[in-house]
Amino acid sequence: MAKILWKPGTMLYPVPAVLVTSHSNGNDNVFTVSWAGTVCTDPPMLSIAVRPERYSYQFIKNSGEFTVNVPAAGLARAVDYCGVKSGRDTDKFAAMKLTRERARHVKAPLIAECPVSIECRVSRVVELGSHHLFIANVLAVHAEESLIDKRGKFHIETAGLLCYNHGHYCTVSKPVGAFGFSVRRRKKK
Ligand SMILES: Cc1cc2nc3c(=O)[nH]c(=O)nc-3n(C[C@H](O)[C@H](O)[C@H](O)COP(=O)(O)O)c2cc1C
Repeated sequence: MAKILWKPGTMLYPVPAVLVTSHSNGNDNVFTVSWAGTVCTDPPMLSIAVRPERYSYQFIKNSGEFTVNVPAAGLARAVDYCGVKSGRDTDKFAAMKLTRERARHVKAPLIAECPVSIECRVSRVVELGSHHLFIANVLAVHAEESLIDKRGKFHIETAGLLCYNHGHYCTVSKPVGAFGFSVRRRKKK
């Protein structure tokens, strides 16, 4: 490959495109986040990077809680909408017909249409610059029942999850290998 030198920037793609809900003073909000990632396995932790000017920012800062809802491709329109409209002047749940479900540990709602919803409690906030990084503990994971097989294995890879790829919403659907396949011995025929 022949690479050219590009200016420094955010060029790590693909990234998730998740719906983050929050709750403050009796109100719920939802917005789209792509600067999101898993940061620790034990204890389970994730992070979201949020610009302080987002309406959701104060909700999350004040409550110290949020939920991350992982959408499949069918929710691409809702994901885009929640990422361009603000809860300051729009009820995005109603506009996108997103069904709120009660979470177990936090006041922020879960989104029923997403195959995975993750309840989070903020453990620290790192002020990086344009974005403040909320690092959070995972309190509970809600997983779509129909994606769990008889042995209890969760087949999230079949859910047709959505990702964000440099301005485009794409699906993550076709597996090209499984964990460890590069070193696994092939069965003799
Ligand atoms: C695909 C996509 C990804 C986004 N990722 C982020 C993000 O990681 N952090 C952030 O602060 N805003 C992000 N945004 C922008 C917010 O979702 C957007 O400003 C939203 O309207 C804020 O809603 P609120 O004002 O109701 O909180 C993203 C928008 C889109 C469309």
